[in-house]
Amino acid sequence: MVLEDDQIEDLFVSVKRRYGYDFTGYSEASIKRRLQKFIETSEIQSAGALRNHLLQDETFFRFFLDEITVNVTEMFRDPLFFASLKKNVFPLLNTYPFIKIWDAGCASGEELYSLAIFLDEDGLYGKSRIYATDISQRVLDKAMDGIYPIDLMKEYTGNYIHAGGKRSFSEYYTAMYGNAIFHSSLKKNVMFSAHNLAVDESFNEFNLIVCRNVLIYFKRQLQERVIELFLKSLPVFGFLALGNKETLSFSSFKNHFEEIDRLQKIYRRIN
Ligand SMILES: C[S@@+](CC[C@H](N)C(=O)[O-])C[C@H]1O[C@@H](n2cnc3c(N)ncnc32)[C@H](O)[C@@H]1O
Repeated sequence: MVLEDDQIEDLFVSVKRRYGYDFTGYSEASIKRRLQKFIETSEIQSAGALRNHLLQDETFFRFFLDEITVNVTEMFRDPLFFASLKKNVFPLLNTYPFIKIWDAGCASGEELYSLAIFLDEDGLYGKSRIYATDISQRVLDKAMDGIYPIDLMKEYTGNYIHAGGKRSFSEYYTAMYGNAIFHSSLKKNVMFSAHNLAVDESFNEFNLIVCRNVLIYFKRQLQERVIELFLKSLPVFGFLALGNKETLSFSSFKNHFEEIDRLQKIYRRIN
């Protein structure tokens, strides 16, 4: 079964009404592809059946949510991003008595633990609070666990070294039964919470907001909503770190920011 555009729209309107999740602002090509894949694997026969199943069965909806959002991530992903934070942002954060950071769209936590490790190495972790949010509770649960397959550690160690890590990466986890269990001290200053960038409001003020590989899945209008939300959540001189796949260049809010790192898309609010 292939869903027509109006059937997809209908489906998203019903989902929004029932659960408050709004996918109408997601970029069409990517969401259609994932929706189609979901239909094929779940063996649902008609648009009506899919709609009914989603509206009546919340567990099925949670599964759907995970399948149509992209959760791919890794530790010290794009190592030069972390190198830039260390060089251009952390020294300024260090001038504050207390640091509040929002990792928006943190997925299963690899980005979050990478941040925690670098904050720790630069002596900033003790005075930091990190708010780690995502639309999906399932990936947040994984983030809270902080347990990842040991096979990935070779690649992550390479990323860590490339980013400028100072220690031996294996100091941060305990290897057990094929997994790397990251030390719980890395999450002692982390608050995990579900937050939907498409519909929820600002919930605090932060010195640094990290949101990478999330806006690329949104249409322009939703991107603008999220950038405005970030603007409202940053004081003047607060940092917004978007990573090398995103940009503020097309945003009507761009004049509120100065560029700190052109490639890694790290900005500072100036007014
Ligand atoms: C590709 S992952 C990026 C993870 C991490 N930031 C990184 O760059 O490695 C995108 C994440 O955005 C989350 N996401 C998608 N839509 C969202 C929304 N409306 N609000 C909050 N998070 C959302 C997904 O659940 C997913 O975990």
